[in-house]
Amino acid sequence: MTEKKGLFITFEGGDGCGKTTQLNLVAKYFREKGKVVLVTREPGSIGLGQKLRELILHYDEDIAPTAEAFLFLADRAQHVCKLIKPAIEQGKVVLCDRHTDSSVAYQGYGRGENIEQIKNFNNIATQGLIPDLTLVFDVSEDIAQKRLGKEKDRMESAGRNFHKRVREGYLEIAKQEPQRVRVIDANLPIEDVFEQVKKIINEKI
Ligand code: TYD
Repeated sequence: MTEKKGLFITFEGGDGCGKTTQLNLVAKYFREKGKVVLVTREPGSIGLGQKLRELILHYDEDIAPTAEAFLFLADRAQHVCKLIKPAIEQGKVVLCDRHTDSSVAYQGYGRGENIEQIKNFNNIATQGLIPDLTLVFDVSEDIAQKRLGKEKDRMESAGRNFHKRVREGYLEIAKQEPQRVRVIDANLPIEDVFEQVKKIINEKI
């Protein structure tokens, strides 16, 4: 297990939920407090991950659901080992755009892979590392669609029912782990969403 000196916060939610905008605001907030911040993402933060990202999001033939799950997990294993853990050990605040809960929500609830298995595989990929806090940005389907625009990648084009299951999956995860996972109403304007985020971060940290 990592000796936890830093802080690890993950940002989750369906496509078009606005989490990346909020992540950047949180990064600025911590930097203003004098913290050293690492902003990163899954899939595809570093070398191998970038190649996997290209494959996962833009491969134009069918990918078997289990193969898709393992591609995300492979990216995560590399990411945790090479970037996230060392940064936490150095005392940094690590802000990660998507992480383990994306696999549970998308491959588990969305694609129908076995949820307990996905959780076990996540545990292997992360060597047991668990975020200190996870923010789930919850947004209505209509707003998400509007924010996404017309150019969609392979996951974004997976269909309305798929994305509905993903959203429900996230809410279920939050219900099961209320200490770690907090749901944010992301239908509101950016500043109002950020107020909720700040409140939770200040309560928790
Ligand atoms: P990305 O362009 O990073 O989208 P976003 O800005 O919404 O994060 O694409 C990542 C896509 O991959 C997104 O549709 C969610 C999906 N995904 C999974 O299905 N499983 C995972 O484990 C991860 C990390 C992402």
